[in-house]
Amino acid sequence: MTDWVGKDLKYVWHPYTQMKDCRNMPPLLIERAKGIKLYDTRGRFYYDTISSWWCNVHGHNNPAIKSAIKKQLDLLEHVLFAGFTHKPAIELAQKLAALAPAGLSRVFYSDNGSTSVEVALKMSFQYWHNTGERKKTKFVSLDRGYHGDTFGAMSVSGVSLFNEVFSPLFFESFKVPSPYCYRCPVGMQEGECDTDCLKPLERLLEKRSKEIAGIILEPRLMAAGGMIIYPEKYLKGAASLAKRFNVHLILDEVATAFGRTGRMFASGSAGVLADFICLSKGITSGYLPMGVTLTTDKIYKAFYADFEQKKTFYHGHTYTANPVACAAALASLEIFEKDNTLKKAAGLIPLFRERLEGFKALPFVGDVRSIGLVGALELVKDKKTKEALDFRERTGLKVYKAGLEKNLILRPLGDIIYFFLPLCVKRAELEDILDRSYSVVKKAFNG
Ligand SMILES: Cc1ncc(COP(=O)(O)O)c(C=O)c1O
Repeated sequence: MTDWVGKDLKYVWHPYTQMKDCRNMPPLLIERAKGIKLYDTRGRFYYDTISSWWCNVHGHNNPAIKSAIKKQLDLLEHVLFAGFTHKPAIELAQKLAALAPAGLSRVFYSDNGSTSVEVALKMSFQYWHNTGERKKTKFVSLDRGYHGDTFGAMSVSGVSLFNEVFSPLFFESFKVPSPYCYRCPVGMQEGECDTDCLKPLERLLEKRSKEIAGIILEPRLMAAGGMIIYPEKYLKGAASLAKRFNVHLILDEVATAFGRTGRMFASGSAGVLADFICLSKGITSGYLPMGVTLTTDKIYKAFYADFEQKKTFYHGHTYTANPVACAAALASLEIFEKDNTLKKAAGLIPLFRERLEGFKALPFVGDVRSIGLVGALELVKDKKTKEALDFRERTGLKVYKAGLEKNLILRPLGDIIYFFLPLCVKRAELEDILDRSYSVVKKAFNG
């Protein structure tokens, strides 16, 4: 019999993985999947509690998405997207423009989350260049934000274990404190806060807005930064500051869109008018890679000119608007409509919240937070002082291993155990996942 894992370790280099760790903990060999379960080659199942890196929405092996992909393959698998177009891309653009928050009527395709961010940054930068405001060249971002692994995206992300080695190569950007309520950056207590953490952003814009092209942030849920969930009033406040100081608002909805926060778009609330929204992950429900940057007609018009004026947006990727990926995205959006996905998922949110609250009884669970069907438990050494666990203990890794024993894919972000559930999760599955997780967390700290 072929030793597939042995072969993997001989030839493959995995992302976000210390390959040396794989000697004791080789990657799981997954053979098939159905709904929210992944199956290994021995037929053992694992709950995909993190939607396969926050992508899967309607479950694995979904018949409607599969059939749309197959149908498209019989027609056209790929064509370049400069000078050529195709129906799936046109239809998808029209659908996204109709679904998106107000004003976002132009759709630019790319390949993944990082490229959707790169496109927004470059368009914002070039917009000011094309309109003669050439001093507006810098970006503001949150100090715990995460926007991807390409250089532009890293430059506007927080500096972390993931990217600090590359920091000498980042372009300069301004960082402001994140609205991390559990560890309030301006020392406020719950209940007394008036979004005081917006003040540093306001002060920065008062002084430097003439040099600033845009603000980028993840609306309501800062995912990789630790599943930090923050109030809508921060988002609204940041949006109104962007408007007041004439800087673009770039909302990175790569992780948050397509129902994760209970809404189609996390920023889909009244009053938040973005200049750009970045999409990926859930757009195809995790079936094929795709990135999208939505923008306004005003931005689009600043690039629309005679060739000699040099206003063209010179950016593109080989697989831009791949027809099969567009077909998968269209099928996914159709499921949202036909199956009433958001309404069904909303029915489970109160139960999810209530069950998560139950984890507070455990000794090391310092904070419990949730939005939609995304929830997080922040583990601490001391609940009173909120002192963090010693990172050398590799608690996250222990929880990961213990999760696998209980048929769960838990992949903590440091000391933050989280659930990023596919929206198709059923009540009984949700209960089972939380029962199993409770015993994992309880056991992980016994002794
Ligand atoms: C908010 C956000 N933006 C951008 C990205 C980068 O996406 P990708 O990994 O597809 O490049 C991620 C990935 O986790 C993300 O969470």
